[in-house]
Amino acid sequence: MEFTYEYFKTSADYILDKIDFKPEVAIILGSALGSLGEEIENPVIIDYEDIPNFLVTTVKSHAGKLILGELQGKKVVCMSGRFHYYEGYDFEKLVIPIRVFHLLGVKTVILTNAAGAINTSYKPGEIMIIKDHIKFMGASPLRGPNIEEFGPRFFDVSKTYTKEYRELAKKAAEKLGMTIHEGVYFFWMGPQFESPAEIRALRILGGDAVGMSTVTESITAAHCGMKVLGLSLITNMAAGVLEQPITAEEVGEIGKKSSKQFKELLSEILKEM
Ligand code: HPA
Repeated sequence: MEFTYEYFKTSADYILDKIDFKPEVAIILGSALGSLGEEIENPVIIDYEDIPNFLVTTVKSHAGKLILGELQGKKVVCMSGRFHYYEGYDFEKLVIPIRVFHLLGVKTVILTNAAGAINTSYKPGEIMIIKDHIKFMGASPLRGPNIEEFGPRFFDVSKTYTKEYRELAKKAAEKLGMTIHEGVYFFWMGPQFESPAEIRALRILGGDAVGMSTVTESITAAHCGMKVLGLSLITNMAAGVLEQPITAEEVGEIGKKSSKQFKELLSEILKEM
């Protein structure tokens, strides 16, 4: 399908009609991190399925709601539940949320996810600040006719993950006494986890953590000039690092256990943003 500027504007206008403020920060909550949405003050909650031209989430652990309100004094729009390629959406469709947020007036996007540790010095429950990404799989979300209102045809992604925010995240973690890493997120299409041989290959290629989301969103954000902070919650050691198989339950379990710490970190970061 071919998108137009008006396509995205239809979604944004629907949302703007329901709120009397302009969100500054968008937060996309990954698996098991959805509960942060509950802390938003004076929330306006919109089901994805009610937003024209939006997408609907098909993943059980993702709520499928947009929550708009205030968090740590910042006007935020929060996605509780995101969209992934493995659900059956084309890469081109995965631009929708970020472009809609851009049209709401959002300048900063915080992308969170659950990820497996390729880097064997990381441990489940720890957080990695995304410094850079590798997306060798599949098409670009920006494939197809370029919409000049969002950004240029060819664009730089070398500064996608805003340095100032990475430094801020490090300081926040230090203040909270949390271990934090900074590394490279490797995008994996999924839905199968990787094989041990694939993980060995991704390690050689320079990945520190692997996951099935985030990069389509950060590329879209880079295209329209938004600032990005990416945070990966390490939920498991990647395939082959340990003997046991990786399960969605394990990923969910660590996600839940660590969500309090993760929320504290996010709050601290938002406060200082
Ligand atoms: N691989 C890919 N995606 C993931 C993983 C993993 O090991 N853990 C959480 N999301």
